[in-house]
Parts: sequence; structure tokens; C-alpha cells
Amino acid sequence: MRHKNESIDTLIERRVSRRDFMAGGIGLASAAFLGGTALAAPGSASASAIGVASQAAGGGRLGFDAISTSTADQVRVPLNYTARVLYAWGDPVSDGPAFRQDGLNTAEEQAQQAGMNHDGMQFFPLPLGSDNADHGLLVMNHEFTDEGLLHGDGEGPDGQANLTAEKVRKSQAAHGVSVIEVRKVDGQWEVVRPSKYGRRVTAYTPMRVGGPAAGSELLKTEADPEGREILGTFHNCAHGYTPWGTYLACEENWDVYFRHPTAEVPEAYKRYGVSDNPRWRWADADERFDTGKNPNEPNRFGYVVEIDPYDPNSTPVKRTALGRFKHENAAFTLAKDGRVVYYMGDDDWFEYVYKFVSSKPWQPMDREANRDLLDDGTLYVARYDDQGGGEWIPLVYGQNGLTEANGFKDQADVLVHARKAADVVGATPMDRPEWIAVHPETRQAYVALTQNGRRGDEGSLTRRDFGSKDPNAPNPREDNVMGHILRWKETGNDPAADTFRWDIFVMAGNPNDESPNRRGNIRGDMFAQPDGMAFDPRGILWINTDMGGGGIYPRKGGAYEAFGNNMLMAADTETGEVRRFLTGPVGSEITGAHVSPDGTTLFVNIQHPGGGGDHYVNHRHSNPKEPKAISSWPDGARGGRPRPATVVVTKNDGGLIGT
Ligand code: FEO
Ligand code: CA
Ligand code: CA
Repeated sequence: MRHKNESIDTLIERRVSRRDFMAGGIGLASAAFLGGTALAAPGSASASAIGVASQAAGGGRLGFDAISTSTADQVRVPLNYTARVLYAWGDPVSDGPAFRQDGLNTAEEQAQQAGMNHDGMQFFPLPLGSDNADHGLLVMNHEFTDEGLLHGDGEGPDGQANLTAEKVRKSQAAHGVSVIEVRKVDGQWEVVRPSKYGRRVTAYTPMRVGGPAAGSELLKTEADPEGREILGTFHNCAHGYTPWGTYLACEENWDVYFRHPTAEVPEAYKRYGVSDNPRWRWADADERFDTGKNPNEPNRFGYVVEIDPYDPNSTPVKRTALGRFKHENAAFTLAKDGRVVYYMGDDDWFEYVYKFVSSKPWQPMDREANRDLLDDGTLYVARYDDQGGGEWIPLVYGQNGLTEANGFKDQADVLVHARKAADVVGATPMDRPEWIAVHPETRQAYVALTQNGRRGDEGSLTRRDFGSKDPNAPNPREDNVMGHILRWKETGNDPAADTFRWDIFVMAGNPNDESPNRRGNIRGDMFAQPDGMAFDPRGILWINTDMGGGGIYPRKGGAYEAFGNNMLMAADTETGEVRRFLTGPVGSEITGAHVSPDGTTLFVNIQHPGGGGDHYVNHRHSNPKEPKAISSWPDGARGGRPRPATVVVTKNDGGLIGT
């Protein structure tokens, strides 16, 4: 690392070895399992090698040859790198059934296979407590489905009929989370099959409720009169991890699975986007998603879900203390006194940035003691001022106007209606907060504000009426179709602080665009609409783009045409330099980029290849009669349909990614 760090306090020094902290989250996590005498973890040598390499690189730490923009239907990486598909939609998690290219796998088969549209992802070393970078568990979200590709004949002949209970069940089984065991054999990564760890969590897996909203009236349903057991998680976008080795799946656009029976949608639903015309039609065959019949069911989604990947029989837990909104990711860092801190974005137009600070410190030597650590703590929301300062406002019942007078009954009510609580306390509306990433050494936090083309429009059902839609200092563009990345540093460099200083790291855009609103100030290769972000062990920031969300192809003549397909960028946050490292196939979004603890493997997800054509835009799914109309990645001529997939990128000489 180039900066000798003053920021890592003595407490962390005492708790885990410095080298493991520098090796990144999982290095930190794995050190935690080892107990006091074993803190010089096996594998930590790799972390010091990373330090040496970064210094040797001299001026810049990005050593690869940047690649050009692309419209090719393939994954492209720089010279001297290789990309291989590891785990595509429909591949078995263990020794289950094989994928059928005709799309006719059953719901039961799908529940034993990779779900669709891989998103956030994390590598957990095996065995638990090691720093092994050659063998581990890869855990990932499957954000959503393209019903036109999921079923052999789509939702039905015209997408409006024939939506059987079996198809709804298959759709639910294609959502959720995968846990797969992966191992490097002769330099190549493979999925271990069979594996006792291989597991799918779906939209109907039983989960426990933890935190202040457990047992609340707001969570009680006919099927769960106690308000303590929920079936499933879905639309899991990005993720987080804990230093005790669990995975956090975040629930994002869960609203579009519920159907309200009339156009008179109650305010509490409307605030989160629930409508009478949802994109998914699960309510056709599953009453749970009909809000007329199950009015509290929507209150049971929008959380961070903790999953222990090391125990395939563990019950996932919804951690309500972290609030209910459209969670993008949960970015981990540690307060000076050892309490765990998560930064979280709520990905919607004019929504907010949040932070959770646990009440108790993490116990590195006692995994069991951390089991319910995320049930008790304080949720804050960010207010940014125009002078580069900001404060964290606690969302605590009875404080800051979160009282009966403003419609809040108790802390559960505040957390379940976190958006409304944040409105009341005067949080700053942002240009769609996507992932947040924390620098492993400086602890500076970066948030991707992906875009906001809605300033000034009349809004839709999914949004409240904002007092002001004017640009503000942290979101300065009148028409922010390109997005930007903002960062902050906490006062005293303590993530538990109440105040912070912020600035804008980069405004994305095309340097040749005639509009200053869209031009940006990137030092290096152009990109737009940053979404996924993660730091690697060397402190390189990997920026995944999602230009246009689902509707990205074709975009002829538009402001995004020059960018081509979505891409993965590497940024040196010290120099501000940005280089293009990977481009995806047609219609895909790049997400989940995650570098292994030793720095030599990049795991990255290719989401919705073939997505976003006219048919998709008009029908909200691809055309089942022409599944390969836009992309046939990755199976090409052999395949029957495009498949989202995890790709593994390595340097041909086995070196560090990005050098
Ligand atoms: Fe699922 Fe905000 O992207
Ligand atoms: Ca995203
Ligand atoms: Ca996005």
C-alpha cells in the first residue's frame, strides 16, 4: 500500500493482524476464527506479497493494458488475462440435475440449480478459519428472472396467459442465493460436485426474523401469527459479509412481486412501489403475493438477510435492525471500539444513504457470540450539507420527530417504514444509491450514485412527492443520466462517528458529449452508470456498470451508444485513474466483481445477457420464441438461450489482478 496508514487503530491491531486486515474483509474474517495464538494466519504471506507488488509498480498501480469499448457478444479482458465461465444459470449447485437448453427444467430441478441473474457475490475460504485462496465457498445472489427465458414457452403464448403454479414455483426457485464449493485445480477454478455445502436459498426457504421488528404486529400474517417466520428472500441485489464468516443477502426491488387488488394503493405500499400492476405475476398462482389477501406480507421484505454458508442446515435470519428499504448492499467496516458498521444505499430515485452501528463489539475469538450481533444497534441516515460536511441522524423512536404525532408507534414501526422515518428527520435525497465500498486501509467510503433522469418529472407510483427535486451539492446534475461516485471520511476516522466530510470522486460520462451535464471528469477510460463497487486487497476500486438497467439494448443514437456494452473498470483512488478491464456480452450488466483474498482471481457476474431488447421493454421479459435474438452468450451455437453466469478471470502468469 502506498499510504502508510494511521487509520487502523490499535484495537484492530490487537484484534487481528495488520496483514490480514490489509488482505481484505475475508482475510479479516478468517483471522477472526483462528483464536489468539493463530493470528499469523496461513496465507497471510500473500497479503504482504500484494504490498510489495503495489510498491514496485511505482507511479500507478494499474498495470494492465486497457481494453476498448465493445458491442461484441462476448466477455473481453486485457491481454495476458483469461476469462472462463464457472457457474451459469441452471448449473447444478452440487450433483443435481443438469441444465436443459430448451428451458424445460422443472421447478424442483431449478431449486437444485443456479438461479438466474447472478449479482452480489463473496468468497469464503475453506476450511472456516483459514485464509485459503484456492478452496472456498462462493456465495451469490440471483437477483431476478427473465420469465421469457426461464420457461421453455415463456409465461404463456402472449405472456399473459398460461402462468401455471409450476411456472410461478420455478420463478421463485430461480430467485434467492447460491452457495457453491469452488476449488482451484491445476490453476483452474472448478465447482466441487458433489458438495455438502452446495445449497440454494429461494423465495420460499423458511427464515427467522431477528431484531426489533420480530413479533411486531406489522409482520403478523395468517400463516405466521407470531410475525417471526418468513418464507424466502427475493430480488437480492448486492450483498455484504460479516467478519465472523456469514453472508448478507440484501432485498432490493421486492415490491414488484406483490399485487394490490385495486388502483387505490395505500400510502405505506406506494412509498415502496407496490402497485396493482407488478412486473412479476406470482400473485396469479400464489396468494401470498396478493396484498388484498395478505396485507402484511410486503412488510416482511426489504431487509438484510444473514446466511451462514458454512452450515448448509442453518436458517437464514432477516435482520430488521438494519431497516426496511430497497437495499443495494451492506458495506462492512469496523468502529474504533470494535462495533460493526454497515453502510447501505436505498436504490431508488431520491432515496437515502444509511448506516448501521451495532450496540456490542464483534468478538473475534468467539463466533457464537456474534450470532445475533446484527439484531441490536442504531440505524442512521445521512444528511449532506453544501459545504462538504454531513451528519448521521439516528432513526430512533421518540427522537427527531419519530413520534406518535408523526405516525410512529414504536421502533419496529420506524424500521419497517424506514423511508418515511428518513423523510421526517430530513435526510438528503440522492441520485439512486447503489453499492457502497469501503477502502480496506483508509476506511474512506465510496457510494455509486448510478443515475437520476427523473429530476423535474412528475414521478410515478413508486415515488413520493418530493419537496424539492432541485439538484443539491452531493447530486449536482440537473439531468444525471451518467451517474457519479461520492465518497466520505468519518470524523476522527471512526466509522461510528456522527459526522463526516464528503467530496465527489468522479462524475461519469462521455468526454465527447456536447452536454456538460453528461460529459463528466473521468481521468482515463469512459464509463457511465456505476453500480457494483468493491475494493480489492490492494485497494483498487472495481466499478461495475449497469447502463440502462434492464432496458439497455439496443441503445442506438442515445447518449449511451458510444459506451457499447456494460463494463468493469479498475480505479486507483489515489491518482483518480480509471481503466477499462472487462466488457460484457450484448444486453448484459456487469456486477459482483470480487477479488480473491490473495489478489490473483477475479470472480465477476454477467447478469441478464440478451436483456433489454424491444420485446423486453414492451413485455417486461424476453421473447420466448426468439430467446437468442440479442445474445447467445455463453453457449453460442450449442445453446438454446443466453445464460447469466459467474466468470473467473485470472492473469496468465498467475499474477495479481489489475497488474
Ligand atoms: Fe439491483 Fe440497484 O441494482
Ligand atoms: Ca445493482
Ligand atoms: Ca443498477
